[in-house]
Amino acid sequence: MKASTSLETNVNDNPITLEGIDGIGEDTVIHPGVEIVQENPQGDGRGLYIGSKCIIYPRNRLVLGDLGANPQASIIIGDHVLINAGGYLSGEGGLTIGDYAMIGANACIISAGHQIHDPDRLIQHQGLTYGRIIIGSGAWIGAGAIILQGVEIGDGAVVGAGSVVCKNVPPQAVVVGNPARIIKYRGETASRKETPLFTRLLQCLKPSPLPR
Ligand SMILES: CC(C)(COP(=O)(O)OP(=O)(O)OC[C@H]1O[C@@H](n2cnc3c(N)ncnc32)[C@H](O)[C@@H]1OP(=O)(O)O)[C@@H](O)C(=O)NCCC(=O)NCCS
Repeated sequence: MKASTSLETNVNDNPITLEGIDGIGEDTVIHPGVEIVQENPQGDGRGLYIGSKCIIYPRNRLVLGDLGANPQASIIIGDHVLINAGGYLSGEGGLTIGDYAMIGANACIISAGHQIHDPDRLIQHQGLTYGRIIIGSGAWIGAGAIILQGVEIGDGAVVGAGSVVCKNVPPQAVVVGNPARIIKYRGETASRKETPLFTRLLQCLKPSPLPR
């Protein structure tokens, strides 16, 4: 059963109906082709809430799943948030996006997963894992980035295009790669280079200079 709430917004003066959205602020534009997956709304304040002056571009999929079975499910999006096309935003484990955050095209934000630890049982039979994702105010998530469950992206932080984030990112940090690592903080010009492990090992093995 889909959510019973139904709201309207305008894209180029064409009204579209927004089924599955529990609350939406003024001047927010949801483009056609945004899909919302929400089952069994509970009327207990949980659900999908979108603030004012946001834009959600086409082909985004916002997934809350079954709110009856899953108490942590929710998606809360602040004001002035931009979500570029093609994203997958899972709120099954909870997802909060702060004001003025930007989500690049085709980002994948995944707040739920599968238990895997029992090797003798099918993964399909082991149940799910959940972890709320928090994306701070003013943060920028690059195109195609993947954010895994339980991760907190600090205010004003930047996640490079295509990065895979499995650990928290401090405020104002710039992270890139898989797994994503801090290369600098905003305002710093040079990247922080990590000395490769092999070089560090060689440095340890080098004999110390003989005393004169
Ligand atoms: C993260 C980002 C903002 C960093 O920009 P920047 O501060 O100008 O950084 P630089 O280009 O100087 O790169 C610094 C280092 O990080 C590396 N790097 C930068 N972006 C990277 C990325 N996405 N993945 C892996 N490495 C990356 C660079 O190769 C460079 O490495 P080096 O020091 O070994 O040469 C930018 O690279 C990025 O990914 N932007 C996202 C763009 C995007 O998604 N746009 C579409 C929005 S819908």
